[in-house]
Amino acid sequence: MAIHLDLAGLFGAGDDGLLSRERFDAAYERAAQVRDQHLQARPEWRGLGEREEFLAECRTRAREVLDQDGMDAFVVLGIGGSALGNQALLAALAPVYQEWAPSPGHPRCFVPDSIDPDWIGALLEQVPAERCHFNVISKSGGTIETSAEFLVCFEALRRALGSDEEARKHFTITTDPAHGHFRKLCNDLGFASLTVPPGVGGRFSVLTSVGLFTAEMAGLDAQSMLEGAARVDRNLAGCSATEDVALAYALAHVLYTEDGKGVHVHFPYSHRARLLADWYQQLWAESLGKKHDVDGAVVHRGATPVKAVGPTDQHSQVQLYVEGPHDKVFTMLKLGRFERDIEIGEPFTQSPAFEHLRGKRLDALVEAERMGTEIALVEAGRPVCTLELCKLDAFHVGQYFMFMQIATAYAGGLLRVDPFDQPGVEAGKVAALALMGCGEYQQRAAEIRQRQADRSVFVLSA
Ligand code: PA5
Repeated sequence: MAIHLDLAGLFGAGDDGLLSRERFDAAYERAAQVRDQHLQARPEWRGLGEREEFLAECRTRAREVLDQDGMDAFVVLGIGGSALGNQALLAALAPVYQEWAPSPGHPRCFVPDSIDPDWIGALLEQVPAERCHFNVISKSGGTIETSAEFLVCFEALRRALGSDEEARKHFTITTDPAHGHFRKLCNDLGFASLTVPPGVGGRFSVLTSVGLFTAEMAGLDAQSMLEGAARVDRNLAGCSATEDVALAYALAHVLYTEDGKGVHVHFPYSHRARLLADWYQQLWAESLGKKHDVDGAVVHRGATPVKAVGPTDQHSQVQLYVEGPHDKVFTMLKLGRFERDIEIGEPFTQSPAFEHLRGKRLDALVEAERMGTEIALVEAGRPVCTLELCKLDAFHVGQYFMFMQIATAYAGGLLRVDPFDQPGVEAGKVAALALMGCGEYQQRAAEIRQRQADRSVFVLSA
C-alpha cells in the first residue's frame, strides 16, 4: 500500500548531460528550506485527506440525488481544475472501455470539460437533460465556460419540464461557501450546493467536494481515496527532508529545468491512468509557469509538462524522445499489478511468429514494453524516473493526487514562483468576458477592439 519513486535513472556523471549526485546533494539544503517554509505555511489542501466534512456533505447529497427517479446520467459542468480531477478519477477507477459506466445502481458519468457546441450538443442528444443530474463546479463562481454550460443545460431542462423549480432539482452547485455568482444563486434561488474551501485553489481541489461528489455519484470508494491522500500527507510531513520523496522529485526536476531540460514527460503505462497525466499536466503547467518570481522580478519561469501513454505512444512519440533534442525529463508511471490477468493464449501452436507471446499475459507485455522504453531512454542518455503505484485503486489514486500536489508546491518554492495563483489565466478570462460584452470590462473590450483594428492582416487560404 505505497507509492515508490525510483530516481536512479536521473543521475549520471554531470558532464554527460545528466544530473550528478554531488550537485543534487549540494542543492538539498536549499530544498530543505523550501520544504520548511511550505510546512510552516501549510496550505489548506494539505489536510484534506483527514477532512471528513466534505465527504459527509457529498454522501448526503449523492444519496438524495440517487434516490430521484429516472436519472440516467451524471454530468459535471466545470473546466480546468474543476473538471480534470473528476475525469482522472473516473477513468482510473471506473474502468469501462470508452464510457464511464460505474457500479450497478449508479449513473453514467460525463465530464465534457468544454463548451464546444458539437460536444455539448451531442451529449444532450445522447442523454436528454431531464434524465441528467448536473454538478456545476466553479470555485470562483465567475468562469464564463461553466456559466454558459449551466445556462444551456438549465434552459434545456426548464423547456423539457416546464418549470424552473423542477429544473433546479437537477442541479448541485459546488462553489465557494460565501462568494461568487454561483453562491448567490444558491442563496437566492435555493439550488442545492456543496463547498469548495476558500483556501483551496481549483487544481488542488480534487480531494474536496469537487472530486468527492463525482466519486460518490459513480459509486467509487471516496473514503479510501482520502485515506491514501492522508497517508502520503502524514508520511511526508513526518519524515526528514532527505527522506521526503516529493522533495527529491521536485528538486531533480527543477535542477534539470535550470539546465535546459524543461520538458517534463509524464508517461503512465496504464490506460486507466492516462487522464491522471492530464490532471498532472494542468497542475504542473499552471502552478509553475509564471512571469514574476515571488519578489516581483520578471523571470518567465516554468516547465512544460507533456502527456504520453504507454505502450500506445511508443508508436507516436518515443522516436522523438530517444533521438530528439536533450530537453526532457521522463516520469514513467508503473503499476505494481493490474486488476485483470489476461492470458494471451496459444491458438496457433504451429506458427513461430507468435512463439514469444505464447502462454504469456498482457500485463507482462506492458511491463516488458515499459522496461524496454526505459532502457532505450537511459541508453540514449535521457533522465528517467519511475513512480510506482502498487495498484490503481482509490487508495493509490488518492496517494498519487497528494504526492503530485506536494511535489508541485515544492517545485514552485524551488523556482521561487507562487504555485497557487494563475494571473495568466485570469488575463484570458477577463479578455473573453470583455469580448462577450460584460459591463464590468467595457474599457478592456475597447482596448482589445482597437488592438484588433491596428493589427495587419496576414491570411492565406488553400
Ligand atoms: O486551477 C485553477 O485554479 C483553474 O484551472 C480553475 O480551476 C479553472 O480556471 C476554473 O475555475 P473555477 O473553478 O473558478 O470556475
